[in-house]
Amino acid sequence: MSHNSHFSGKLTPELVLVAGRSHPELATAVAENLGINCLNTTIYDFANGELYVHYKESVRGCDVFVLQTHTDPMNKNIMEQLIMIDALKRASAKSINVICPFLGYSRQDKKHYGREPISARLIFDLFTAAGATRIMSIDLHSAQLQGFFNGPVDHLYGMPILTEYIRRRVDLENVVVVSPDAGRIRVAEQWAERFNNAPLAFIHKTRDISQPNVVKHGRVVGDVAGKECVITDDLIDTGGTIVGAVKALYENGAKSVIVAATHGILSDPARERLMNSGVTEVVVTDTLPISQEKRFEQLTILSVAPLLAQAARAVFESGSVTSLLNAHDVDVQNVIKSALKDLPGW
Ligand code: R5P
Repeated sequence: MSHNSHFSGKLTPELVLVAGRSHPELATAVAENLGINCLNTTIYDFANGELYVHYKESVRGCDVFVLQTHTDPMNKNIMEQLIMIDALKRASAKSINVICPFLGYSRQDKKHYGREPISARLIFDLFTAAGATRIMSIDLHSAQLQGFFNGPVDHLYGMPILTEYIRRRVDLENVVVVSPDAGRIRVAEQWAERFNNAPLAFIHKTRDISQPNVVKHGRVVGDVAGKECVITDDLIDTGGTIVGAVKALYENGAKSVIVAATHGILSDPARERLMNSGVTEVVVTDTLPISQEKRFEQLTILSVAPLLAQAARAVFESGSVTSLLNAHDVDVQNVIKSALKDLPGW
């Protein structure tokens, strides 16, 4: 619902939110948090698969935020966002701020072998070519991805929202934070700080890179016997990584296992795997749309809409986005309250 409906998509005459078709629920929630509507936009497919975009109102001189999350159909959604950016550039927007709650191809950020692409770099290059002036995303697969764009990248974290929720679900005296692989121990350390400096463990995992989504699991490093384990990862795709980790933790005597990940991709067969894994709870955010068919009893979805709205507002008002990375900052506290307020019993 717009607080200033005579401006339609504009909070002031300059802040404009436009959204592609990938995640309308999130777009509406971000707009509501900003107190505006998304700009009236026509987007459709031609019979041959090409896409068309037309903004129904002027964006001349506006700071425009282009929200599109990269979900299946991945390539179409990315192309749609690129075309939206191109249309804004040609319509004289003052700044074009790309919001990708989940950035597609972010796992392909380096070459393991000769003759492989670095697809994540290509995505950033495409944004640059289209006319993006800023990129905003949440929990990029690796922080170094920020260097793939020669301009400001606002790398936001789901951690404050996820940890605040989970803090109230565990005994802080008996919790262990678990990294599903050695590469994410630094992130797990930051999580452990949010759980009163809880101990850490990690799973020694190896991957068969000749096959997609195939992980060979190793051993648990750290003491998890009798502990309430919290596994933290950036994303759950097919669930192979996480379910392997859950199994290893139970085999090593874990009392319970909560899984937390920012991006719930939940490709088949993630739902079945997770449901049958014995996991206590799986907590993700709504950076990606999660259809009813993908949901299951132990799944909890937390909203990043207040975080994205607050970050967009900070950019627009030349405020601090860095403060949104500090879990103790008052803006973050407000984001957390807003993200959790609709949960039952909260
Ligand atoms: C790996 O480095 C990532 O952080 C995820 O753990 C992984 O990509 C998840 O994929 P899946 O759920 O298919 O195992």
